[in-house]
Amino acid sequence: MVLTVAVLISGTGSNLRALLDAAADPGFPARVIVIGADREADGLAHAEAFGIPSFVVPWEAFDSREAWGAELDAQLKVWQPDLVVLSGLMRLLPREVVAAWSPNIINTHPAFLPEFPGAHGVRDALAAGVSETGASVIVVDDGVDSGPILAQERVPVHPGDTEAALHERIKPVERRLLIDVVRRIAESELVLGVRPDPN
Ligand code: GRF
Repeated sequence: MVLTVAVLISGTGSNLRALLDAAADPGFPARVIVIGADREADGLAHAEAFGIPSFVVPWEAFDSREAWGAELDAQLKVWQPDLVVLSGLMRLLPREVVAAWSPNIINTHPAFLPEFPGAHGVRDALAAGVSETGASVIVVDDGVDSGPILAQERVPVHPGDTEAALHERIKPVERRLLIDVVRRIAESELVLGVRPDPN
């Protein structure tokens, strides 16, 4: 059984690209069936390149997080993915969307959670002056990067690191962890929970 995956992004989608490259291997047990974004993200170019359908639910077109989330959920329901992957989606999902998909919704985060949750994990680690930070893959819950940790790994901070330099050192680790977690879920080595009835 091939695990069907929807990936949601806001940015360059380099982590998405890594997953697409891995899934291009016929032996990989998961397939990205749709890519969604909250804006005209640069990462949507990867959908184009791989011939994968995509959709945009523009944040600014809705007058509330709930209305935006309801449309995002409706778009996801069209595709009925087995797993939703947030990979650089810079929005907190409304609790209704999390409830509709959890626990089959995971997120990558560029820190060693529970250290440095939130939108600026890399910047916060630098500001804290730590000698190491990390990358994590978690199940999305109602909190901010507070769900069950599925995989994580330490990444060293180098003296003089800029936020960009440190983030670029973290991302390859994030990608490797994400690909491995998706594979393990697809091969039932990792069981997140029963998929909720879609109707
Ligand atoms: C990743 O580090 C992700 O964990 C964070 O934002 C970054 C997205 O990078 N939320 P990209 O869009 O995959 O290049």
